[in-house]
Amino acid sequence: MNLSELGVWPGIKDRVALVTGGSRGIGQAIVEGLGHQGANVIGTATSSEGAEKITKSLGHAGFKGMGMVLDVSNSESVETLFLKLKELNLVPTILVNNAGITRDNLLMRMKEDEWDEVISTNLSSLYKICKASLRGMMKARTGRIINITSVVGLIGNPGQANYAAAKAGMIGFSRSLAKEVASRQITVNTIAPGYITTDMTSELEESQKKMLQTQIPSGRLGNPADIASAVVFLASDAAGYITGETISINGGLA
Ligand SMILES: NC(=O)c1ccc[n+]([C@@H]2O[C@H](COP(=O)([O-])OP(=O)(O)OC[C@H]3O[C@@H](n4cnc5c(N)ncnc54)[C@H](OP(=O)(O)O)[C@@H]3O)[C@@H](O)[C@H]2O)c1
Repeated sequence: MNLSELGVWPGIKDRVALVTGGSRGIGQAIVEGLGHQGANVIGTATSSEGAEKITKSLGHAGFKGMGMVLDVSNSESVETLFLKLKELNLVPTILVNNAGITRDNLLMRMKEDEWDEVISTNLSSLYKICKASLRGMMKARTGRIINITSVVGLIGNPGQANYAAAKAGMIGFSRSLAKEVASRQITVNTIAPGYITTDMTSELEESQKKMLQTQIPSGRLGNPADIASAVVFLASDAAGYITGETISINGGLA
């Protein structure tokens, strides 16, 4: 699907949208999708080159926004980003926690740093970034938090106990926060993608991809735009009464 054909969704234009991991894959499509809606999009990358690329591609497409550097696993980096946003008078009222990593291994062989890195990047980051965003959203009396979890957090996967734990944790976190902030017109939801064609899944062997396709009722891996279109919906006024929910986008896999 082409994100430019989505039409205009109410309530997104001119809002500041922070998208973590906006440099590649699903995050890049989310930046594009929100850009098409007229949001002022801050997409993050872990390097200044990556951030620069985001700024350039937003400018090239005629969208508002810029790239910024962020390591979601690092509290100082999160603080620095929010200080910069404050200096620029940018208050995100749409937040998409998309940055994520895998460090796959069977539990018997999993090293402690493979566990820690995945929990820190995929789960503890939500504590840091949601907390840093909430004050601005509360003041604005509106907010959309969309956390990108995974089908693996719902059904598990051998070799991914760390990733599944983090992704399932994101769902519990989001359901709880949704209840804390619903009265302030802030919604918190998760999207659980199945297998999507990005750098993350490019590590899969061709034979594994073929096998997966036979297990996916739709008969194909998803595209980043399949996820970005749902983010646009959840970010819009049309989804104002949906909170604490998980939307599965997996071609019928689970
Ligand atoms: N692809 C799938 O099949 C799939 C399925 C289910 C869920 N997901 C989830 O969807 C999200 C995006 O996945 P993807 O496939 O698009 O991944 P990807 O292509 O590997 O891209 C990962 C993104 O996260 C950023 N990132 C990595 N570590 C970071 C850190 N410490 N701090 C900040 N940013 C960091 C990367 O930035 P740099 O470019 O600077 O490295 C990049 O923008 C992840 O949360 C993933 O778990 C993906």
